[in-house]
Amino acid sequence: MKQIENTKGVQFSLLNKEINNTKSMFRPIHYLGSKLRILDFIKNVIDEIDPTNSRVCDLFSGSGTVSQFLSKNRPITSIDIQEYSRVITSAVLKPLSTAYDLEEVISECKNSEHYQQLLWCLEPMIKHELKSFEEAIKGDPFSICELVEKGSIISFEEGYDEAQSSELKKSMKETFRRNEESKFLLGPEALVARYFGGTYFSFFQAVQLDALLEYVSTLDELDKDIFTAAILSTASDIVNTVGKQFAQPLKTFNADGTPKKNITNRIMKDRQRNVFEIFIRKLQDYILIGKTGFDHHIFKMDFSDALDILSNDVKVVYADPPYTRYHYSRYYHVLETLCLRDNPKVSRTIVQGKEKISRGIYREDRHQSPFSIKSKAQEAFETLFEKVSNLEASLVLSYSPSTEDKKSTPRIQRIEDLKKLGRKYFDNVESIPVGQFSHSKLNNSDKNFEINYDAEILIICK
Ligand SMILES: C[S@@+](CC[C@H](N)C(=O)[O-])C[C@H]1O[C@@H](n2cnc3c(N)ncnc32)[C@H](O)[C@@H]1O
Repeated sequence: MKQIENTKGVQFSLLNKEINNTKSMFRPIHYLGSKLRILDFIKNVIDEIDPTNSRVCDLFSGSGTVSQFLSKNRPITSIDIQEYSRVITSAVLKPLSTAYDLEEVISECKNSEHYQQLLWCLEPMIKHELKSFEEAIKGDPFSICELVEKGSIISFEEGYDEAQSSELKKSMKETFRRNEESKFLLGPEALVARYFGGTYFSFFQAVQLDALLEYVSTLDELDKDIFTAAILSTASDIVNTVGKQFAQPLKTFNADGTPKKNITNRIMKDRQRNVFEIFIRKLQDYILIGKTGFDHHIFKMDFSDALDILSNDVKVVYADPPYTRYHYSRYYHVLETLCLRDNPKVSRTIVQGKEKISRGIYREDRHQSPFSIKSKAQEAFETLFEKVSNLEASLVLSYSPSTEDKKSTPRIQRIEDLKKLGRKYFDNVESIPVGQFSHSKLNNSDKNFEINYDAEILIICK
């Protein structure tokens, strides 16, 4: 048994089974800042504070990995402001209500009228993409590069036609006409293809994702979350971006308008993957998670509202809020839209004096977290400390410091300020460094979020 001594001399014991335990964990999506690598540490600290295995609240549940891990021996209440997080967390905590023949699910999807109609609507883009692939393989990647950067149907629908080649213009126009004729422009039927086809997924993949979402919409509420989560996991695996998040679609052209070197491979690798096959594997992963029979609660809610309604059996609140000015909602907006299927308004940008749809096809109503806004973060933390102390629960707060010498994104709060704030509301505030580990890494070209190897810290307030 390893022992870690915190600053005030309290012993926090760490069992040596850490790595073995977390190895078997299912990772639902590629997620920045996931706590996957320090789950044992978090669990041991919480077990030390509350050895009675009472309810824990995972207040910013994100990809649901902390909830999944802690649920092995406790009931969990999971909170996050995003619907995709609620869906994933529900899927890792709750079992299916009934058994499904998974091959039958796919066959129903493929034979559905909806799927056949979608294939007809998107046929011009699917064919255009296939032809572009063939040209790229023969050494001319222009057409596929153009489709990735300028082939967005939603952009065309909104009157921003950026395509240069007449073939792409023609394919987009005909696709628009067929979608209109099928009355697919206002409802959710072709949402993935219209919003994210070309930019993030191949058009054929987007159609398959739409078909799965439509199938899921007919399911019993209880099982919807697991099926939808498997779709989100599939989207996260196949997405054709740097770092597998949804903030930066590929840039396929150099500044001089020529296609980038080796771009064909980068485009084709992800886009050739079969959605239905990956979906079945992901669904099996969710089904095979060992789930406990505790009464878990999962809510899509603001943290502050949630703290007003938490049940009084919550003994520990684990909080992992954002610490940088980069909003999580920017990195996962596609997953949110896949869940909501609500035809969102897309934000605009001005490029060289001309208005365009934002390159990432961001939702206009993307959540802006107070924790990521300098002028609001202090008040948000104060609310967090105050409301958890009113609940008479302990708070375990994750914190990842940045260092000057490494180019990591500056943190909005300093650890000393947080501890000082904590002491206003709790008798005992201590911090424990987790040890050296790295957050899930982004490609080196993306310095926006965080790449660091700093020691993660848990601030414990009792
Ligand atoms: C650092 S991530 C959590 C990561 C998580 N512990 C994991 O391992 O996957 C922060 C989360 O806080 C959520 N969030 C941000 N502002 C929020 C708010 N006001 N209320 C509830 N959740 C919020 C974000 O949606 C994001 O999922």
